[in-house]
Amino acid sequence: MELVSIEAEEYAAKFSFAEDELLHELNLDTTETHTNSHMLSGHVQGSFLTLLSHLLQPKTILEIGTFTGYSALCLAKGLQAGGKLHTIELREEDATTASSYFERSAYKNNITLHSGDAMQIIPTLNELWDMVFIDADKTGYIDYYELILPFVKQNGIIIVDNVLFHGQVLEQNISGKNATAVDAFNKHVKNDIRVEQVVLTVRDGLMLIRKL
Ligand SMILES: C[S@@+](CC[C@H](N)C(=O)[O-])C[C@H]1O[C@@H](n2cnc3c(N)ncnc32)[C@H](O)[C@@H]1O
Repeated sequence: MELVSIEAEEYAAKFSFAEDELLHELNLDTTETHTNSHMLSGHVQGSFLTLLSHLLQPKTILEIGTFTGYSALCLAKGLQAGGKLHTIELREEDATTASSYFERSAYKNNITLHSGDAMQIIPTLNELWDMVFIDADKTGYIDYYELILPFVKQNGIIIVDNVLFHGQVLEQNISGKNATAVDAFNKHVKNDIRVEQVVLTVRDGLMLIRKL
């Protein structure tokens, strides 16, 4: 189930600021050539990530789940001068695509792409994070959250994608593996006194979490 109608998504896109040329090309390229193109954040969510990043002006950003690089390019726009975005992608083919677009971007010197399993790579990153975007395998969400939270600065923001998981978390008896994991994650954060959070019904559901 898609929670936001195509018409509403198109209307929202029309009145959100436009994708720049590189993002537009990457969006089209992924949509036309990738079998899992629905995973890309897209115009409206991407604009939201950019705007949030501009507001926060982060020095350090961590992204878990690069895919073809769209959301990383959106987030990088708000980095402070000299700021760093680390992004991690398991699938080599997608990391290669992302890398080719990062190379062409104004932020190529600010972005470090790690190819491999985020669970293994995160502990090797010696950083404190202003902003984190969790958007990889849903069954790993609680582990990623617990792994990174101690390294998120006070007032740092964690953004988590797909927290409504195509509406499946709304079912009476949640059966799918991913929806079950996402629902467990949502409950986990709700019970965590270290943070405050809000669930936004943007696209497939975004959770914004602030570390207290
Ligand atoms: C939903 S897509 C990310 C979309 C991207 N953030 C965007 O908005 O354009 C999820 C990505 O996470 C990657 N992934 C899954 N498990 C992973 C892991 N253990 N470590 C790193 N990346 C992983 C997948 O290969 C996939 O490309």
